[in-house]
Amino acid sequence: MGTVTSATLTGVDGSVEQIDGWSWGTLTGGRGRSSWATTTSVGCCPGACSGGGMWRYRRLLPVGEGEVRYPLQIGGTPLVASPRLREVTGMGRLWFKDETRTPTGSNKDRATALVLEQALRNGVGTVSCASTGNVAVSLSVGAAACGVRAVIFVPAEVSETKLRLMLLAGAAVIKVEDGYEAAFRLSREAAKAFGWYDRNTGVNPLTIEAKKTVAFEIWEQLGRRVPDAIILSVGDGPTYSAMVKGFRELVACGATEKLPRVVGVQAEGCQPLARAWRTGSPVRSVRPRTVADGIAVGAPVSAALVLRDARETGGGFVTVSDGEMLEAIGTLASGGGIVAEPAGAAAFAGLSKAVSGGLISEDEETVVHVTGTGLKNPQYLRPTTEAAIVRAGLEEVEAVLEMNSTERGLV
Ligand SMILES: Cc1ncc(COP(=O)(O)O)c(C=O)c1O
Repeated sequence: MGTVTSATLTGVDGSVEQIDGWSWGTLTGGRGRSSWATTTSVGCCPGACSGGGMWRYRRLLPVGEGEVRYPLQIGGTPLVASPRLREVTGMGRLWFKDETRTPTGSNKDRATALVLEQALRNGVGTVSCASTGNVAVSLSVGAAACGVRAVIFVPAEVSETKLRLMLLAGAAVIKVEDGYEAAFRLSREAAKAFGWYDRNTGVNPLTIEAKKTVAFEIWEQLGRRVPDAIILSVGDGPTYSAMVKGFRELVACGATEKLPRVVGVQAEGCQPLARAWRTGSPVRSVRPRTVADGIAVGAPVSAALVLRDARETGGGFVTVSDGEMLEAIGTLASGGGIVAEPAGAAAFAGLSKAVSGGLISEDEETVVHVTGTGLKNPQYLRPTTEAAIVRAGLEEVEAVLEMNSTERGLV
C-alpha cells in the first residue's frame, strides 16, 4: 500500500521545489501558486484504500491519521454510459464522468472537502476564496456544514442563483466590481492580512490533490483501465492538471503504464490557453466574453502547468461558442439525463471538434468530464419544446405524446 512520502511544489513558471514530508503550515506558507506531486511506493493500488467516496483514496491524499471529520458525502460520482449519446456521437466507447452529482453540483466539492478537512483538524475559524461561482457555493455550503465561517469574493456579475446559495448558507459575500481577477487578488490580500485559511484554486495545493481523485475513480470504474482520451473544460486550469496528476500517480503506483490524452475546452470568448497553444506564443490575459462563468477566466492561474500537461499527455485544446455550449446542455439533458451548466457542458460541446481536429478518434475510449450542474444556472436551461395543456381526456394525452416522440425523433 502506498502513502504520501514526499511532495513537490510546482510554481506557475514551472519551477519545482522538493519537500520531504508535508505539514499544513507548509501548505499555507505563501509559496504562491502551486500543486503537489506525491511520491508513492510502487505497487500501491488506490482501489484498495479504505473509506468511502473520495476518502477511499486517502492514502494518496495529504490527510493525517484519524477519522475524517468532513460531514458531507464526497466523490464516488457515476461514470455514465449513455446509449443515446453514444449513438448521437457515433462513439461506441464514450463515457460521462458526472460531477454534477456532488453536494453542490460541481467538481469543486472535492477540493472544498479536503481543504475543510484540514481546516477542521487545525481549528481554523475562517476560510476564504475568490470564485466565478461554483467554488464559492461549494465553500459556503461546506463551511456551513462544518461550522466554519466562509468569506467569499465574487465578480459583481456573479450568477444570481449561485449568489443566493452562498448567502443562504450564511457566507459573508463580497462582490468585486472589477471582475474575477480583481476578486482573486483582493481575496489573497485579505486572507493574508486577516489570517484566514485561503482555499483559492491554484493557490492552495490541496485543491489539486482532491481533484486528482476523479482520475482514480475513472480508472476504477473502467475496470482498472485508463481511457484513451479525456475531454474537459478549462478555466483557471487546476481541474485539468489534477486529472493528469491523478493518472501520473497511477503510473507511479505501477497500476498502469499510460496517461490518457487530455483535451481542454475553452470558450471562444475566453481562450487564453487555447490561443497560446495554437500560436505557440506566451499566455496573454484576455477580457472574458462568455456565458460560461466557470471558465470565464482571462488570466488562468495554472497556465504553465496546464500547457505542460497538455504537451506531456499528447492532448491539446479546442474552443466552443456560447451557442454550442447551450446546444450541448440540451443534448446532454435529453440524450443522457445529465443537466449541466455552460461550463459543465463545454467538454461535450467540444467533443466533435476534438474528433474533427484529430485530437480524439471516434473509436477511442473517451471520457467527457461534466463538471457542473445546470440547476444553479437555470437561465441557460432552454428547452426547445413547451409543456402541453390538456383537459381531462386520454385522447389528448395520446396526441401530445405522439407529437413529443416525433419531435425527439423516437418514431
Ligand atoms: C462548472 C465548471 N467547469 C469547469 C471549471 C474550470 O475549472 P478550472 O478553473 O479548474 O479550470 C469551473 C471552474 O470554476 C467550473 O465551475
